[in-house]
Amino acid sequence: MNMSLCIGLTLSPTWLNGEGWRRADSKAEQLFSSQYYLELAQRAEAAKLDFVFKPDSLFFNKEMADKSPGHTCLDPIVMLASIARETEKIGLVATMSTTFSEPFTVARQLQSLNWMSEGRVGWNIVTSIEGSGNFGKGEMPSSKERYERALEFTEVVRKLWASYPNEALTINRESGQFADQEMIFPIHHKGEFYHVEGPLNVPAFDSTSIPLFQAGASDLGRNFASFVADACFAATPDLESAIELRRDLHTRAHKHGRDSRAIRVLPGMHFFLGETREEAQQLYQDAYAHLTNEQRLAAVQRILGVDLSHLSLQSRITAKDIPEVMENVRSRTHADLLRRIIINEEPTLQTLLSKPEVIGSAHWVVIGTPADAVEEIIRWYRHGALDGVIALPGGSVQSLNLFLEKVVPLLVEKGLFRKEYSGNTLSEHLHEKVKK
Ligand SMILES: Cc1cc2nc3c(=O)[nH]c(=O)nc-3n(C[C@H](O)[C@H](O)[C@H](O)COP(=O)(O)O)c2cc1C
Repeated sequence: MNMSLCIGLTLSPTWLNGEGWRRADSKAEQLFSSQYYLELAQRAEAAKLDFVFKPDSLFFNKEMADKSPGHTCLDPIVMLASIARETEKIGLVATMSTTFSEPFTVARQLQSLNWMSEGRVGWNIVTSIEGSGNFGKGEMPSSKERYERALEFTEVVRKLWASYPNEALTINRESGQFADQEMIFPIHHKGEFYHVEGPLNVPAFDSTSIPLFQAGASDLGRNFASFVADACFAATPDLESAIELRRDLHTRAHKHGRDSRAIRVLPGMHFFLGETREEAQQLYQDAYAHLTNEQRLAAVQRILGVDLSHLSLQSRITAKDIPEVMENVRSRTHADLLRRIIINEEPTLQTLLSKPEVIGSAHWVVIGTPADAVEEIIRWYRHGALDGVIALPGGSVQSLNLFLEKVVPLLVEKGLFRKEYSGNTLSEHLHEKVKK
């Protein structure tokens, strides 16, 4: 029996990005209602997905408001609490920042939600890239400091979860002992960043630990992820970068003394799906129709560090148009990817500017039919590039519908994904095998 692929759906409405929210069928007015997210979670549960995942940031970017409505987002714990009671099986992964929160609060909120959902909670640990002004912190701490904090923060949270174990709950009416005091310990944590006495004032839901998710991409981030995470989210735009990341995370996990197979690597998959390829292409084009050529050229300049604005749209772009050594690029993976496309395809400038790698995102982008998406997932799986995916539907709710109604059932048919849940908790879903 193989491990089941692990599939999570984002609760950030990625399909409303760009022009998506302006469509008549977008339900944009309902974006801040609990019903909107509850329906998504219930549909994901009907498709037997492992979890829904609520991304989060702790700042507001006014420029993003019109182009990425999901950027103004509801608090993950509040949102997931409203979903917990109305669902039974699906995992609920909340994003919480180690830079702007306190370990006691995070440990308590997550363990509370774990009780509310009967063991279905996961924590997406992020160090946040922006927002210090909202917390009286002055300048953002460096990435190094943020990850050092994250390490200690996570250690404290885990100690707090262990400080009041589930086994301590005796609830003995006869003796009058509700909890065995001898099993509940203060943690007396005194570290570089945190002093926390403990114990936590919420007992653990059960004896398994709450699964941890992380998406570190930098050297420090990968080190942290491979040390603590049960599952890693990945922004890997192409197969090569995903294979490299998964292999690297496994090697690092092994060095930390962990079983490398314990980490499930889940690339974000941004997909535009149609019943036909033409329909999918149109959906994708429409989503980014608002971007001018100037904005697209600026994106190329950001990614590759080269200005192509003096060329006509019909010019072919070849290796000679881009520098051999790329310095000061924002993302080496993304720059290498675009470089490979230029060298292999020698596209016209117009074609280059319409590529998802230029205008879309740093994620793996799939534009096509459900069968195309399944083929791509299987190709990546066979190459050892993934253990599952984070579904990031694009363009309109149609992409989401086709994913749940066609892509997932096709994966079930191929024996790569579960037909029914066999467990009840998120931890059980993450380690489930598929029965053939
Ligand atoms: C699928 C995915 C989801 C992410 N979700 C969030 C999020 O909700 N909030 C956040 O602050 N960062 C999020 N990140 C960013 C990561 O936490 C991380 O900062 C990023 O991958 C860069 O890695 P680095 O911190 O090692 O440089 C996400 C990344 C990926 C790939």
